[in-house]
Amino acid sequence: MDFTLTEEQQMIQQAARDFAQTELLPGVIERDEKQEFPRTQIQKMGELGFMGMMVDPTYGGSGMDTLSYVLVMEELSKVDASSSVVVSVNNSLVCWGLETYGSEEQKQKYLKRLSTGEIIGAFCLSEPEAGSDATSQKTTAIDKGDHYLLNGTKNWITNGSSAEVYLVIAQTDVEKGHKGINALIVEKGMEGFEIGPKEQKMGIRGSDTHSLMFTDVRVPKENRIGADGFGFKFAMKTLAGGRIGIAAQALGIAAGAYELALKYSKERKAFGKEIANHQAIAFKLADMHTQIEAARFMVYKAAVDKDQGNDYVLSGAMAKLYASQVAMETAVEAVQIHGGNGYVKEYHVERMMRDAKITQIYEGTSEIQKIVISRSILQK
Ligand code: CAA
Repeated sequence: MDFTLTEEQQMIQQAARDFAQTELLPGVIERDEKQEFPRTQIQKMGELGFMGMMVDPTYGGSGMDTLSYVLVMEELSKVDASSSVVVSVNNSLVCWGLETYGSEEQKQKYLKRLSTGEIIGAFCLSEPEAGSDATSQKTTAIDKGDHYLLNGTKNWITNGSSAEVYLVIAQTDVEKGHKGINALIVEKGMEGFEIGPKEQKMGIRGSDTHSLMFTDVRVPKENRIGADGFGFKFAMKTLAGGRIGIAAQALGIAAGAYELALKYSKERKAFGKEIANHQAIAFKLADMHTQIEAARFMVYKAAVDKDQGNDYVLSGAMAKLYASQVAMETAVEAVQIHGGNGYVKEYHVERMMRDAKITQIYEGTSEIQKIVISRSILQK
């Protein structure tokens, strides 16, 4: 597989790199500390075309490929994973899902505004008792003829309060199991829809994560995505692509932490020389660089698989599993290389270490990725 970047891909990568340095880096520590949503930054990313990267220009998107999206995710995540998760959910889980499976009316009504960043979206699958076990949905969407009556609670929803549009997965017919699940478009402000308090998180603190409560919310039938009972497949297909975005986020966190550790180790002196010249540190850098390069190839491969119409469930799950492991290990080593400075905020790596952990949990834990990978290889 050829990963030589085209001129256009190199330009978008550079644009994201510049944006991360000039717009995300200033204030990243304060936003993390105050749990402040990067509203201005998201608006600017909308103007740059980062919020609907793979969406056709007819619907306000940038019409780019998955590899370009991954390059942008990687660059943003090197600096600010709180901002990049907002980009990832909007692109992979909301815009892609709507463009691929939504009706023309839904695309006109919602996708255009989502892909330009005018509004942002949220993907609502997880529940208090259905995180990994996604078929066990307790939220119900009862068919009432011209509408569904939605009741239940969703947990850990990224963009929980900042979104305007929510793609909600709910059970319509319990008898049919996962074939009785639907995906509905719910708008903020619909009667009976309440947003719970913000979660106090370990990492990605700039992004807002909430529980959502639905009590007798009337969702018009025309807000259902796809045919009756398509909701679970919709969620699985959407998440398969979403995992590539999170794999790119993990890769970015790893690369960002490594770059800081490399720079620091060339400046910091101990025992008469720069610490990079001590083999204990040089070997750490060698391991980090090797693992990041391997993760990068896996993430790019998954993106290219998606672009070329190949199966990307397996390569996406493997990329997420490995890149998130590398993110965690690299961030821990970056803190170690920084010594005492690594433990304080202004050197950034302690935040990266906290941010890295979530990449092993959301959009399917590492254990879920192993289920997907093992099933995929055993079926072949
Ligand atoms: N594409 C299409 N269909 C798929 C699919 C895929 N990738 N994966 C599964 N399916 C289909 C199966 O073919 C099956 O359909 P049939 O019965 O018609 O054959 C159906 O879905 C059920 O599949 P399984 O029997 O494999 O279901 P399962 O109960 O064993 O669970 C699972 C499968 C992979 C573990 C799934 O439950 C899963 O992915 N869980 C994790 C959910 C997750 O990622 N949650 C994260 C929440 S989102 C988030 O984090 C967003 C955010 O805020 C950042």
